Amino acid sequence: MPTKIILDCDPGHDDAVAMLLAWGSPEIELLGVTTVAGNQTIDKVTRNALSVARVAGITGVPFAQGSSRPLVREIETAGAIHGESGLDGPVLPEPAIRLDPRPAAQFIADTIMAAAPGEITLVPTGGLTNIALAARLEPRIIPRVKEVVLMGGGVHEGNWSAVAEFNIVIDPEAAAIVFGAGWPVTMVGLDVTHQAIATPEVQAAIAGVGTGPAAFVGELMLFFEKAYRDAQGFPHPPVHDPVAVAYVIDPTLMRTVRAPIAIETRGEHTLGMTVTDLRAPAPADCTTKVAFDLDAAGFWALVVDALERIGEPAP
Ligand code: BDR
Ligand code: CA
Repeated sequence: MPTKIILDCDPGHDDAVAMLLAWGSPEIELLGVTTVAGNQTIDKVTRNALSVARVAGITGVPFAQGSSRPLVREIETAGAIHGESGLDGPVLPEPAIRLDPRPAAQFIADTIMAAAPGEITLVPTGGLTNIALAARLEPRIIPRVKEVVLMGGGVHEGNWSAVAEFNIVIDPEAAAIVFGAGWPVTMVGLDVTHQAIATPEVQAAIAGVGTGPAAFVGELMLFFEKAYRDAQGFPHPPVHDPVAVAYVIDPTLMRTVRAPIAIETRGEHTLGMTVTDLRAPAPADCTTKVAFDLDAAGFWALVVDALERIGEPAP
C-alpha cells in the first residue's frame, strides 16, 4: 500500500526534485500539492509548482495555493539561492492545470478529514505556515494525521543563521505550533540534508536518464550549484527537500532519534533554532523525532529511479 501524502512546498529547486520523487515513486500516492511563500513570493512558487507538474506530466493531483506570508512576521525570500523566479535555470513551461479554488489550509483540512484516521502523511518542505493554519482551522486533523515528515531545522547545523535553518526561521511561530501540536513529527533537517549533495557523479547519473524531466533537473542543479557555491561556499549543492520524501519511501535511509524539539521564537541570536534535547531517554509523551546519518547513495538511487519511472511525459 503506498503512503498517501500531501506535499506542502515552495518551489524552489529542491522542492521541485521532491515533487518529482514523490510523483515517480510507487511507494507514494500524491494526494495534493500545496504552496507556501518562502523561497519566493506565493505567486512565483505556485506558478513554479504548476510548471514542474507540466514537466513531469503530473495529472489528477489537486494543487492549492497557500499563505502569502508567515503568521506574524514579514515575508523573507531566498533569491540568492533560488533566483528571481524561485526556480531559475531551466525554461519553465506554461502551467497546464488549474488551481484548486480552496486556500491550502482548507484543502489540507478537508483532505485529512475526508480520509481515514492515520491515512495521510504531511510532507512540508517550506515554511510551516499552511500546516499551522490547517491545525488551527480544523484541530480535529491533529489526531488524524499519520505523521508530519518535514524538511527543516537541524540539531548541529544552521544555514540562515549560525543555528537556524531557513524553513523554520522564516516562520518560527508556525514551526512552534507544528512541532508542539502532539502529532508525530519527524524533523529531516540539515544534519541529513547536508549529506544529500548533488556531486558530479550524481549529476551524471541524472543526466544518464536521458529524458526531458531529467534534463530539467540537470538544469536546476546547474543553477543551484552556482548559487550554493556563491552564497554558502558549498562546492556542490545540498538537495534538501527530497530527503523528506525519501524518508517516507524508506525510513531506513537514515537513523532517527526520539527527542523533544522546541522552537526558539524569541532569541536575539537564536531565532528559529530547533532546540533538540538529546539527553536520553526521551519522555514517554515525546512525539518528535530527528533524523541523522543519510545513506546518500540509497537516497540518490531513489531519485534516479523516480526519474526513470516518470520517463518522457506527453507534451
Ligand atoms: C530549505 O530552504 C529552502 O531554500 C529549500 O527549498 C529547503 O526547503 C533548506 O534550508
Ligand atoms: Ca523548500
